[in-house]
Amino acid sequence: MTANELRQKYLEFFKSKGHIIIPSASLVPENDPSTLFTGSGMQPMVPYLLGEKHPLGTRIVDSQKCFRAGDIEDVGDNRHTTFFEMLGNWSLGDYFKKEQIFWMFEFLTKEIGLDPKNVYVTVFRGNEELGISRDSEAAGFWKEEFSKIGIEAKDVDFVENKGMQEGRIFYYGKDNWWSRVGVPDNMPIGEPGGPDSEMFWDFGAELGIHEKSEYRDQVCHVNCDCGRFLEIGNNVFMQYVKTEKGFEQLPSGNIDFGGGLERILAAKNGDPDIFKTDLFVPIIGKIEKLSGEKYGESVSAYDMRVIADHLKAATFLIADGVVPSNTQQGYVLRRLIRRAIRYGHLLGIEKNFTKQISEAVVEIYKDIYSDFGKNKIFVELENEENRFRETLEKGLKEFEKMQNVSGADAFNLYQTYGFPLEMTEELALEKGIKINKKEFEEEFKKHQEKSRTASAGQFKGGLVDVSEITIKYHTATHLLLAAMRQILSPEIYQKGSNITAERLRFDFNYPEKLSAEQLKSIENLVNEKIGEKIEVEMMEMSKEEALKLAKVSFDPSKYGDIVKVYKINDFSTELCGGPHVKNTGELGKFRITKEEASSAGVRRIKAVLV
Ligand code: ALA
Repeated sequence: MTANELRQKYLEFFKSKGHIIIPSASLVPENDPSTLFTGSGMQPMVPYLLGEKHPLGTRIVDSQKCFRAGDIEDVGDNRHTTFFEMLGNWSLGDYFKKEQIFWMFEFLTKEIGLDPKNVYVTVFRGNEELGISRDSEAAGFWKEEFSKIGIEAKDVDFVENKGMQEGRIFYYGKDNWWSRVGVPDNMPIGEPGGPDSEMFWDFGAELGIHEKSEYRDQVCHVNCDCGRFLEIGNNVFMQYVKTEKGFEQLPSGNIDFGGGLERILAAKNGDPDIFKTDLFVPIIGKIEKLSGEKYGESVSAYDMRVIADHLKAATFLIADGVVPSNTQQGYVLRRLIRRAIRYGHLLGIEKNFTKQISEAVVEIYKDIYSDFGKNKIFVELENEENRFRETLEKGLKEFEKMQNVSGADAFNLYQTYGFPLEMTEELALEKGIKINKKEFEEEFKKHQEKSRTASAGQFKGGLVDVSEITIKYHTATHLLLAAMRQILSPEIYQKGSNITAERLRFDFNYPEKLSAEQLKSIENLVNEKIGEKIEVEMMEMSKEEALKLAKVSFDPSKYGDIVKVYKINDFSTELCGGPHVKNTGELGKFRITKEEASSAGVRRIKAVLV
């Protein structure tokens, strides 16, 4: 099924149930200063959910463009994006739970033909403090629907470590509450919210998705992050409003349904990778062409997904009037474009390419969103790309003039020229200068305070917790060395190591270029050890004893008599001053971004934690 077919089917289905089809609202909310972007279908509907009369009646359906800036760093796996389309239907004080569940079941299982055996649902467990009871009513309606097709749907409480318990309907706590700010406690006065019922698609145990993931040590469940289950829709029973006195019933119950078009499509097509749907394939194809790399479950898949998502989002944001700048929406857009260019760089794309990707985006959506104004989009992208590449060069010149590079200088390069800290650090090191990262952080924080009122949080991007992240890279370096000893040769030694807030760099003895397979195996092994969540042990002992345990290539006289040994079970044992993380599970995902020659007989690997 194509995306256009699915979107059309959904709109027509709800039209047949008395709904009026409305066009998508802008990604930049009108008359709503509370958020920068439209992040869900219900956002433009808030006044009507609160009781204002909608000019088109009480049943509305649409496919709404959504952008979630908070998800930028989640992009890269097979299902997260910042931009997506949310299929939405609303009852404004009209029908409620029974009809919604009945229609949704009909739509998913009959209209588009998803196998009900692979559909699971969750409902709200209730909250005594809020005076809101367990939603056995919604569970009951789901049971009815499943029983009509001969499936006995057992409802059970979700219990950590108990897994599926042969259930089909699961009661959860705050996961099944919806408002724009997520949890009831944080909702501002006047905000609508309510319990919800989410639907999940099971790609099937036979694919072994959970076992292959970093979550394999946990018991799999519909809300597990492994990717076996994909949330494909959320029925919100929008019936409360937060007041000074707590939660009060709205004058009438509303329905707010939202389902990700890309995700439902992935479910229908039976492939958990949404980047393989027709909403992405031409974009990925273009990136493959430009980079000469192949899309697959490899290092380059991650980079390609980031580029595809970010430039699609940028295309839609510019279409809705955002231009790159240093504040508010414009800053987020700038960050998306520069991030995409940086990831392009990782794939070896050095020439301007954002316009070409955007052309592919426009081509996919042009019949649905005919008001793109594509020339403006292309011009803005080109300008921003030129600007970024230009400032990098100017920054380089500025850098060359510096005698010393203080943390404040590095911040200035970052601030004025868009110079990544990591690059400044590398350049400085060639001059034999080590940058004081604390100073950089202080400057950064000072600046952040100044700009907080304008756009709180927009500078988030791995720069804040510099010290914490460096510790992670230390531990990742140990895992990398151990993995190479296992895969390449036990006689691999460290020839140099350098860590910044953004990556690790590791030099080691090896006579030739590593193959893609070798790199992949090393990467996999490191990720496996991260997934195993191994305790990192520290022991203090005499140098003599330590040298029996750990292999070092350094002159032992460099060390004191009592030394620290860091051990990651039997996998890695190293003499090291530390500090390290407590458990390898803290590291996230490990990714090799580059392998190159460093000097004769010495190779260099750069890697990131994402
Ligand atoms: N408003 C609900 C959501 O975004 C449907 O999940």
